[in-house]
Amino acid sequence: MNDKRQPIAAANWKMNGRWEDVEAFAQSLGTITTNGEVIFAPPQVYLSAAEVGDTVKLAAQTGSEHVDGAFTGECAMPMLAEVGCRYVIVGHSERRALFAENDEVVFAKTEQAFAAGLTPILCIGETDEENQQGQTEAVLTRQLALAVERLSVEQKQQIVIAYEPVWAIGTGRTPSIEDIENIHQKIRSLFSQNDDTISASVRILYGGSVKPDNAEAIFACPNVDGGLVGGASLTIDSFEKIIKALA
Ligand code: PGA
Repeated sequence: MNDKRQPIAAANWKMNGRWEDVEAFAQSLGTITTNGEVIFAPPQVYLSAAEVGDTVKLAAQTGSEHVDGAFTGECAMPMLAEVGCRYVIVGHSERRALFAENDEVVFAKTEQAFAAGLTPILCIGETDEENQQGQTEAVLTRQLALAVERLSVEQKQQIVIAYEPVWAIGTGRTPSIEDIENIHQKIRSLFSQNDDTISASVRILYGGSVKPDNAEAIFACPNVDGGLVGGASLTIDSFEKIIKALA
């Protein structure tokens, strides 16, 4: 971690939990003290059930690339902002793999998020196969390309990137601490293209099997600005330990 950037612990509940779980978790989160920023992404339907108070920020797990219209089941970014979201996750690997979201769609969502006043949490990461074939850097470069080309300097300073190797999500496997730091450093330099104001500001989270027992070592990497946490965010005890590892 780096003193200049406020670190983040973000809980991505995916399609888990029910109303009372969301309510209870949100209430407990609000009582945890930390110098970091705490973000909670409950299932969309419970966004307004999560009364997160001032200290915790609400995130949507996805949002539409369209603003209005005949898109049954979708939520537009301005709708998410209206129910209290400050952040929106875009390009999560589950959305890419299961809902066919390609880089163009992910970038359109990124733009719509900014237009609605939300901060996108842009997820990138290689699959196991791509990793085995030594394609990690090429994949990350491709996934970042549109954002690098088309976002403004201010947007690049504001966006949050989450590096989530697909093979580490929900598997209990993680890259070595050394690999995590090296890849994050690479992403920071790829994304900022020698603009120091961007590289000093953009926050890059690690995601994929972050747990209470590995969070401290991962967050200690100078180029890691916190974590995007799935499974280990589902209970308050375990997520609290991860939040405390930000310090
Ligand atoms: P995990 O999920 O922590 O359960 O590996 C992370 C994510 O998908 O964001």
